[in-house]
Amino acid sequence: MRFPFLFATRGCRAVYRLHQKQFLSPVPPLWEHRSSAALSTQLCKDDRSYYITTPIFYVNASPHLGHLYSAVLADCLHRYKLLQGFNSKFATGTDEHGLKIQQAAEAAGKDPLTFCTGVSKQFRHLFSSCNISYTDYIRTTEQRHREAVEHFWSVLWNKGLIYKGSYEGWYSTQDESFLMPSQVGDALDSLGKEIKVSLESGHKVEWMKEENYMFRLSAFQSQLLDWLRGNPQAVQPERFHQAVLKWLQEDLPDLSVSRQRSRLQWGIPVPGDDEQTIYVWLDALVNYLTVAGYPDKHNQWWHVARHVIGKDILKFHAIYWPAFLLGAGLPLPQVIHVHSHWTVGGKKMSKSLGNVVDPLERSQMFTADGMRYFLLRQGVPDSDCDYTDDKVAKLLNAELADSLGGLLNRCTAPALNPAQVYPSFCPQSFPRAHGGRAVHEDYHMLDAIQKLPAVVEKHYEAMHIYKALEAISACVRLTNGFVQRHTPWKLDRKNNEDQRWVDTLIHISLECLRIYGTLLQPIVPETSNKLLSRLGVQPHERSWAGLNFLARYQGMDCPFEGRALGSDSGVLFSRLEPHNADKQKPKKTKKSANLK
Ligand code: MSP
Repeated sequence: MRFPFLFATRGCRAVYRLHQKQFLSPVPPLWEHRSSAALSTQLCKDDRSYYITTPIFYVNASPHLGHLYSAVLADCLHRYKLLQGFNSKFATGTDEHGLKIQQAAEAAGKDPLTFCTGVSKQFRHLFSSCNISYTDYIRTTEQRHREAVEHFWSVLWNKGLIYKGSYEGWYSTQDESFLMPSQVGDALDSLGKEIKVSLESGHKVEWMKEENYMFRLSAFQSQLLDWLRGNPQAVQPERFHQAVLKWLQEDLPDLSVSRQRSRLQWGIPVPGDDEQTIYVWLDALVNYLTVAGYPDKHNQWWHVARHVIGKDILKFHAIYWPAFLLGAGLPLPQVIHVHSHWTVGGKKMSKSLGNVVDPLERSQMFTADGMRYFLLRQGVPDSDCDYTDDKVAKLLNAELADSLGGLLNRCTAPALNPAQVYPSFCPQSFPRAHGGRAVHEDYHMLDAIQKLPAVVEKHYEAMHIYKALEAISACVRLTNGFVQRHTPWKLDRKNNEDQRWVDTLIHISLECLRIYGTLLQPIVPETSNKLLSRLGVQPHERSWAGLNFLARYQGMDCPFEGRALGSDSGVLFSRLEPHNADKQKPKKTKKSANLK
């Protein structure tokens, strides 16, 4: 069933090459008086638009932790780009058509649209509870989407890329995926009956034979290989890029892109043929274009599109989707950011195992910021991660409550900072050349924090959020060590020299906190807001351009020196009891407990 490729593709190739530009910023050298923000501006001055998407979520069941993870990752990138002054669009939503949803609605005894509306609302509710700041929430049952899909189909049809054929092979309804015989294995179902399953997902597959429409996927094999080889950053992390290259070296048969209407009613009919329904993955992938304004207003956004996806849907995004786009003569996504999965007890979450983690319940238990921080700090895109409540409580206590919260308490406590101001920095006490009261480790700390924004920028760009958080957390520890080393509470404030040194120590610590608060905004927006407000940092001073650390040490004016701190609105992040965290409400700690 292979067809020679007869269509004009050279133009398409030129289009995607043109748009595969990367904006990764190098790390500026130490103490260079050019902020990383300026660097980004310089590299991207020709285009300040950014478009990030999550996968659209199936509405056959309520949201689980993995869904929130995809959304939090994309939200973090969107917020980060806004801080850098980009015009960022962030799309999420729900995938509502297909056999799987049709069957779930039947099982629930509801008409499909009512059923979809109910579950779609649950996703929206979860996302607003977790501060997922999407700019567009799309449902594939919307009219604007139907128009985009119909148009997209017609473009492929008019180019001769879709033909009437027949498909015979394995299909997994759970994955809504066609499988090659080599991707199928034997298994027993819960009643001990022999069944065939997808080797990748473990989901049951069925043999199907249908007249339907086929897309000439085989014709795009070499173009897809060229694209991936010419754009090593197109699929990240590298191991997933390699996986796609490997798949592309195998046979790439044409793809069935419709189902008989008699089997699948819940979907968009094929234009001009009411007997056929468009394949749900083609329908779903086009959502990214719909949000961009396709078919007539997508140009501003489409060439800067980036997708965040889980590893289970890589084939659809890195093979089918680029092939459809090449066929339609549209630019390919700039980057496909792939993440791995969350497991529970080392196993995939599933209803039958009863190990599904409810993200809404957990975000109420650990707070929205708590869950965001945990997922982004522990989630490693390269490999699966196991979830336990205990891990969440321990991490949040150690890094948000004790380390970051403790540092803020120490530096703003009335006992140490009775005037409640951002005190002055004294260059004689902490000179650029050694000779004042600062020691070697203090210079090392300044060095690390000066470099931090560029380090974080590099990791945010690559969606290595855990590495960015690791770096921030290490710096917070350095600042705590700095305060501990100099024990400002033991100094004699009546002595002028000591007083100047105490002020300098606090000034530096507050500067460190300001940098951490600014960098953490994409991760923990509420906590960062509380932190920056307590420091008296105004909303317009919280962008990436405001990351100039310790201006006074660099011989410049510091806009914060002498400024009154913001009001004290309580503990930055409340400690949680690690044992039985699930039974525990956040517990208030005495602020003074962290003073020493
Ligand atoms: N509807 C399709 C996507 C269409 S996009 C054009 C779909 N939906 S899904 O609801 O099954 O999955 C949505 C996202 O959740 C995917 O990125 C998937 O990888 C992610 N996760 C589902 N389970 C997961 C974990 N256990 N852990 C992490 N993410 C996982 O696929």
